Amino acid sequence: MNHVSLAESGLGVGSEEVLTLFEPFAERRFAPTDPDWIRELARRERKIRRRYWRRRLLGRLSAGQRSHDVVRAEYSKAWAGIDFAEYDPARGVAPRPSPWQWRDRCWFASDVGATRVRQLLLIRLLEKLSPRHVLEVGCGNGVNLMLLAGRFPEISFTGVELTREGVRAATELQRLGELPKPMQAFAPLPLRDVGAFRRVRFVQGNAARLPFADAGVDLVVTILALEQMERVRSEALAEIARVARHHTLMIEPFRELNERGPTRRYIVARDYFQGRIADLPRYGLDPQWVLDDFPQESYLHAGLVLSARRPARR
Ligand SMILES: C[S@@+](CC[C@H](N)C(=O)[O-])C[C@H]1O[C@@H](n2cnc3c(N)ncnc32)[C@H](O)[C@@H]1O
Repeated sequence: MNHVSLAESGLGVGSEEVLTLFEPFAERRFAPTDPDWIRELARRERKIRRRYWRRRLLGRLSAGQRSHDVVRAEYSKAWAGIDFAEYDPARGVAPRPSPWQWRDRCWFASDVGATRVRQLLLIRLLEKLSPRHVLEVGCGNGVNLMLLAGRFPEISFTGVELTREGVRAATELQRLGELPKPMQAFAPLPLRDVGAFRRVRFVQGNAARLPFADAGVDLVVTILALEQMERVRSEALAEIARVARHHTLMIEPFRELNERGPTRRYIVARDYFQGRIADLPRYGLDPQWVLDDFPQESYLHAGLVLSARRPARR
C-alpha cells in the first residue's frame, strides 16, 4: 500500500488551503498540551472505554448494535432535521462540535469543515480521473454530489441513499433554481454552473443491492458510508466493485488506520466498519494509494483510498 502525505499525493492541495477551508467551522483551537483539551479528551475517552467494554462483554447482544434498522432510524432522523444553512462558512457557528486533530493542531470543530476539505480532494481527484459517470453510495443529504455537479457540469452524478429522508432533503433543495448562495460560498472552488445540482439523480436504495449494471459506472465513491455498513460490509463491497468500471474512491475508517488505541475502541464501541484496505483485492479492487493527511476526528481516523478496478474475468 502506497501511503502518501498531502504533498506526495500530487493533488496540488496545500496545507494552508486545507486550514482555510476547515477553520471557519471550528469553535475553538487548542495546542495539544492545553489542559482544557486534555481534560475533554480524557472525559470522552472514559465514556468510550465504558461503551467498548460493554460491547466486548455483551457482543452482538449489546443494545445499539448497528443493524440495518438502527442505521436507518439514526440517519432518517438526522436528514429529516438537516438545515443546509449549516454549510454557510460565514455563519460563525460550528454545529455539533467534536474534537479534531491534524498534525500539531487541535480543535473543537464541526464535521461540516471536514466535508469541505474532502470536497477539494474530490475535485482534484475528478480532474485527474475524468470520469463520465460518478456514483456516490450512501450519499446522505446529497451535499457532496450537488457541489461536485456545480464544478463538473459535464459529469453525470448519481447518489444512492438508504433513507427516504436523505433523498427527500436533496430533492427538495433541487427545487430551487440555483444552489443557495451560502452553499456556493461553501464550495472550495468557484462553481461553473450553479444550476447543475438539479441534474444529480438521487435514488433510495441499499448498497448491498445496487440498482446498476456490472461496470455501469466509471467511478464509485463512498464517504464515511461504509463506516455505517458493518453488518452488510461484504455485500456492499462486492456490489461497489461490481458496478465500478474503472475506479473506486473510499474515504473510510479502514482497520489499518485504526488498529489500536482510542480510535479502535471507538469503532468497536460504535459497531462501525472494520474492513481492511488489504481486503479490497478480494473484491477485484487494487488499492493505488491511501491519503489520511487531513483533519481527522480524534476518535475516527479516515483514509482516502483510491483503487483501480481489475477487469472482470470472463
Ligand atoms: C455518515 S453518513 C455520510 C453521508 C455522505 N456520504 C456524506 O459524506 O455526507 C452515512 C450515510 O450512509 C447511509 N447508509 C448506511 N447504510 C447504507 C446502505 N446499506 N445503503 C445505502 N446507504 C446507506 C446512511 O443512511 C447515511 O446517510
